[in-house]
Amino acid sequence: MMFKPLQSRRHFLHAGLFLAGMSAVAVGKTLSDYRSQAVEDLQKRSFEVSGQGSLKKRAAAIGLIYGAATMRPYLADLDFSSSFIRECGILAPENELKWDALRPSPSQFDFRNADWLLGFARRNSMLFRGHTLVWHMQLPQWFKEVVNHQNAEKFLQEHIATVTKRYAGQMHSIDVVNEAIEPADGRRDQLRKTPWLEFLGPDYIEFAFRTAAAYDSKAILVYNELGLEYDTADGDARRNAVLKLLERLKSKGTPIHALGIQSHLVGHSIPFNSDKLRKFLASVASLGLKILITELDVVDQKLALDFAIRDRIVAARYQDYLKVVLRERAVIAVLTWGLSDRYTWHSSYNPRKDLAPVRPLPLSNSLKRKLAWNAMAIAFDQAPKR
Ligand code: XIL
Repeated sequence: MMFKPLQSRRHFLHAGLFLAGMSAVAVGKTLSDYRSQAVEDLQKRSFEVSGQGSLKKRAAAIGLIYGAATMRPYLADLDFSSSFIRECGILAPENELKWDALRPSPSQFDFRNADWLLGFARRNSMLFRGHTLVWHMQLPQWFKEVVNHQNAEKFLQEHIATVTKRYAGQMHSIDVVNEAIEPADGRRDQLRKTPWLEFLGPDYIEFAFRTAAAYDSKAILVYNELGLEYDTADGDARRNAVLKLLERLKSKGTPIHALGIQSHLVGHSIPFNSDKLRKFLASVASLGLKILITELDVVDQKLALDFAIRDRIVAARYQDYLKVVLRERAVIAVLTWGLSDRYTWHSSYNPRKDLAPVRPLPLSNSLKRKLAWNAMAIAFDQAPKR
């Protein structure tokens, strides 16, 4: 079966994305990890921020929502949880709404952890974001024995209906379909070969959106995708494929409201073309769709060990990227995938060779604001209102 070793496939996919930028990598002990011609500029960059206001307040000042993904066990850490409450205006469950977390058996749903996260968000005046109804990863063990051509539609319908009914009116937005495109899978329509595609054909995407809309008329229904950020052949293929998919869905009157751009960025050098990205964002907006930056972080796996250097490069990536995307007023929310380096998926998915802790997020392991926090604050302060 195509979806057998879930974790290792995921790992492989992301390793592939990062390796795509390897040829341009200068692994060294200096800022040359950034981009040689820009080293001087980077050394001089000030990252000075006015005031102590939180990221959520700075975002709100320009009509933007800022928040992060997290998990229930992380929020049991009270120091972390108070940082989360201080900085975040929206919470996304990192795993608790995925199939493997919600579906202990074909006939059961376990909403305890997802409900707890929603409760936490509400108690602390945060919005809540759903992630994700349809994905090829993190399917339960029983899935491949139980789901087949005959019953796939029933399972998908029941799953989407049950989740969206339960949280109807309480979600700011929800990733209805995640990562449905994979040009490397070689199909003319560039769709990823997933169990859903195999069982239901390409219309599973439209079906998912229509089902979600039938049970929750309030949530912003999002198509979420990876690998859209860089100026590589792969990036071009993914952007084109996403645009075609969105156009197709819109032309059929599918109830889709936004594109989610995951934005797992890399610290090392990889071609980035701000004009191309802006054009892409404008094309998405011209379809009448909003845009959310859903999983922002900057992996520092291949950067120099030195904290000061690493943090400066990571911060520059945050600032450069956000400067470009926030110029597009259709961008309504920015979420980082985690808030503090204390809890990040990169620790296990993209660890460093030297085994030093990774530093991809705005707050340090000890919950201090890093240069990446400053970079985000500056980007929010300087972005146009929406
Ligand atoms: C990751 C989680 O952060 C990990 O805890 C989990 O083990 C694997 O999934 N793109 C997505 C997210 O859409 O769901 C992934 O989250 C990260 C990549």
